[in-house]
Formats: sequence, structure tokens, C-alpha cells
Amino acid sequence: MHFFKYKNSELFAEDVPVSKLAEKYGTPLYVYSHKTLLRHFKAYDDAFNGYPHIICFAAKANSNIAILRLFAKNGGGADIVSGGELFTALKAGVSPKKIVYAGVGKTDDEIRFALRTKILMFNVESEDELKEINKVAGKMKTKAPVALRINPDIDPETHPYISTGLKKHKFGIPIEDAIEYYRTASRLKNISVIGIHKHIGSQITKVTPFVDALKRVLVLIDRLSAQGVNIKYLDIGGGLGISYKDEEPPVPRDMAKNLLPLLRGRKMTLIMEPGRSIVGNAGILVTKTLYLKQGFEKEFIIVDAGMNDLMRPSLYGAYHQILPVKKQKRADTFADVVGPICESGDFLAKEREMPMVKQGEYLAVMSAGAYGFSMSSNYNSRPKPAEVMVKGKEHCLIRERETYKDLLKAERIPDFLGNA
Ligand code: LLP
Repeated sequence: MHFFKYKNSELFAEDVPVSKLAEKYGTPLYVYSHKTLLRHFKAYDDAFNGYPHIICFAAKANSNIAILRLFAKNGGGADIVSGGELFTALKAGVSPKKIVYAGVGKTDDEIRFALRTKILMFNVESEDELKEINKVAGKMKTKAPVALRINPDIDPETHPYISTGLKKHKFGIPIEDAIEYYRTASRLKNISVIGIHKHIGSQITKVTPFVDALKRVLVLIDRLSAQGVNIKYLDIGGGLGISYKDEEPPVPRDMAKNLLPLLRGRKMTLIMEPGRSIVGNAGILVTKTLYLKQGFEKEFIIVDAGMNDLMRPSLYGAYHQILPVKKQKRADTFADVVGPICESGDFLAKEREMPMVKQGEYLAVMSAGAYGFSMSSNYNSRPKPAEVMVKGKEHCLIRERETYKDLLKAERIPDFLGNA
């Protein structure tokens, strides 16, 4: 459910015509709906109401500071994977006591930063990392709060690139070795073991993998408890899918209905790390049709957004619905919607049946709020697009369009190359 709807053949973001935003802010343009963001965040909060929980929004899905602020103001925390995300989350006003830090490659600098700012916990992914955190914490004369990320060996039945909880993946600690790891962790002087973490993948459209993974983790928690290890925080990760096309994924309420009974009587705080299911359908990418071109075998609609702006179609073959910003009475065509990047892999849609568009008309790439802007790049020296948040009739720039100057901001010409 989202608030990008047609009114009289014209696509609106809440109460604002998308064409108006495109005219004012230019294209390509990311547009987010405040009401949708909040609704999706609250859907989690309400569903798990009654069991102590923290919703740590996965900042990697969309790390815009305004979006993080919105969730922070509503009691949310953040799941981070880098010093940059920690910096952004803190600037956005996320309480460090609601920040969890995952990722297989944390550097000493990042570990120090997280210890200094007193985050809730590190989700540790290997023995080497555990020892490194212990060392850094020791030097800082402090104790690092830690959860071990367990790889439960569950198939989330999603795209192989975004599945993470199988034995063959680089993430987490094999579940059969977990007890041994916890033993090691408990012996380390500057580590305080407080939690357990798992995350099995993304865009998961069934409840079963979540249930199966949780059951495995609960068995482990009981074994740990028998050995005197008390787990205060149970972090079940993110991964709930959204509808890009015709998927019918469960909603947070379905998750709660299936997961909460398993937690009954257990005194823990539940942590969730949803990303896509909160922001995915709350954002669109607006693009302008530059040219139409009849190729040898097919029709191309060339638009001003490329794989550098939205990488998912090129990277995963992901499907994003593409809608006209103004509906016209036109026949359907079969076309590839492609960007201006010099790569054959630069497309937003392939062999898509869609209403014919004309030069200069706007298109909306739907469900682009998650892993859209956050995965964008400057490839082909293209300034990154602007981002706008709409709330009712109001709209506000939450990231300026980059300029050519921004592209060169960090670059230097060495003296030995002389003048031009
Ligand atoms: N927690 C951890 C530890 C994660 O690695 C991820 C996502 C999440 C939470 C949030 O998962 P979500 O609720 O968004 O599914 N770029 C890919 C998705 C990569 C997901 C990486 N990890 C895409 O565009 O589909």
C-alpha cells in the first residue's frame, strides 16, 4: 500500500502531481511519500506491540538523513554496516542506544567510532572480528556489547545475490559452531555478550523461512542459557519482501502472528532490521523520455535515468513497474526502456509492454525507494539525482541534485602534471 495514485489520469505523490515535482526539481528525481514511509514503519511497530522491540531500520536501503530522522522521531533505531552509516544515523538523531552494527569487514577506525559513540551492539560475523573488537575495546578501556551473527543455513528462496543465510555465504557464524564462539566471546575481557543476530536474505515473500530460522536460533538460545549465557537481545534481521510486480509478500502483522507465539514467556528485546519493506514502495524514480528509437529488432525508449541512478534492473534483472506520469489514450508498445549510460546492460526495463510515450514525457519507475538512491553512483560522470519528500501538499528537497563541481570536489591534479 502506498500513496502514489492516479487522479484523473495524472500520477500524484500524495496530494502533489508528480509532473509538477519533475518540472520544479528536474529529472531524474527520487520522490518519497512521507505518509507511506510512516505507515510502513508503524505497521511494524503496531504488529509487534506487546513484546519489547526496537525497529532498527536498515540504513543501507535508503540512508537519506531526512528519512532516518523520520523513523528516529517515531522511536526507530538503525541497522548500520559502516562508519558512514553510523555518522549519518547519529546526525539524523538516531539514539546510539538503538543502533546495531553488522557487516563482515569492520575496520579498527569504525570499531573505535562505534565504541566511542556507545552503540547498542556489534553484530559480529567472525572469530577474527571478535578478537579485533576485544583488542580495540581493551585499548579504549571499555567493554564492547556484542551479538554473534548466526548463519542458520536456511534457504530464503530469493534471488541468489540477496540471499545470505546459507552455509555457502560469507555472512555470520555457522550455527553448529555457535556454542564454541560464544564460549570464546565470554572469555574475552573486553567483550560483553548480550545478543544473538541472524539475517537470512532479502525480498523474502514467505513467512516460513523466518519461522524456521527463528526456531533454529531459539534452540541455540536455550542451549546457551543452559551454559549460563544470557541473551538479552534477539535480532532477527530484515528481509521481508515487497510487491514489485505481482508478489504477495506477508505483511508485518503476518510476521508477528507467526513469530510472537514462539517468543512467548521469553524475556528478551526483539530487534528487527527491515529496510526494503519500509522504504521500497514509498519511493519512485521520475525520469524524462529523451528519445525514441527503432532499433534493428526492437523499440527503445531512451530516458534520462540510467543504471547509475537505479542499478537494480542491471544488477539483478530486477523488475520495476514503469508508469506514465500522465496517462494518455495510446496503444501499447513493446520496448526496452534504457538509460544514457554507455553499457548494453544499462536498462530499466526489457521488452516491456507499456503505453507508447512521446519525447519529453515523464515516466515513473515504481518501488524505487529501497536500494535505489543508496546504490547510485557517478558512473559516466553523471551527477546524482535530487531527492524530494512529499507530505500531503507539501514537498521538500531532501537532497540537492549534484552539480558538475561536486563531481570534481575530491579530485586533485598533482604538480608534476603542470598547467593545462
Ligand atoms: N540486516 C542485514 C544484516 C542486511 O544485510 C540487510 C540487507 C538488511 C537487514 C535489510 O534487508 P531488507 O529488509 O531490506 O530486505 N541491494 C539488494 C538488497 C541487498 C540487501 C542487503 N542486506 C537489492 O537491491 O535488492
